[in-house]
Amino acid sequence: MSKIAVYPGSFDPVTIGHLDIIERISKIFDHVIVLTAESSQKNYLFPVQERSEFLKKALEHFKNVEVDVFSGLTVDYMRKRQAHVIVRGLRAVADFEYEGTLANMNYRLAPEIETFMIFSRPEYYFISSRAVKEVARNSGNLKGLVPDFIIPEISKKLRG
Ligand code: COA
Repeated sequence: MSKIAVYPGSFDPVTIGHLDIIERISKIFDHVIVLTAESSQKNYLFPVQERSEFLKKALEHFKNVEVDVFSGLTVDYMRKRQAHVIVRGLRAVADFEYEGTLANMNYRLAPEIETFMIFSRPEYYFISSRAVKEVARNSGNLKGLVPDFIIPEISKKLRG
């Protein structure tokens, strides 16, 4: 049976930290689905189609990585795709409580699905999509935080 991992997130926008985790898990699982979430309750900078296009472009050289979008429960998507592992990245202690709650809610909803946590590499520990947007709003340098092609897209979006 092939092992499918789902890596869900908002990816608003995808950062170098996300890409590092995707690269690492693509070597462990047969197939990785990067699932771009669309929630009506969240205020995204980029619409879901743009967020997933950025991911597709950044990940085009990975043979076993697919990008998809969803608006609903991650576990419902996973049941449809017969996937049994959710992967989430852990950075600072601040991520821990949120991730524990999310993992256990998903367990409650779908006990057959496991959540695997993977630690961010130390060089990416401080990077979050939220911080990237904050830096961009204040005209800081985004080089090395997101893929180069996304930098002008963020400026365009913030200006427009
Ligand atoms: N301080 C600093 N950064 C914060 C923060 C805080 N207090 N809260 C959130 N952020 C950051 C996040 O770390 C994230 O940045 P990152 O992508 O670099 O990690 C960014 O802000 C957006 O966060 P958010 O959209 O809340 O979370 P996420 O991108 O990690 O994704 C989903 C969360 C999509 C996986 C989750 O909401 C989900 O599964 N949704 C689908 C519905 C569902 O199935 N829910 C489960 C049952 S309730």
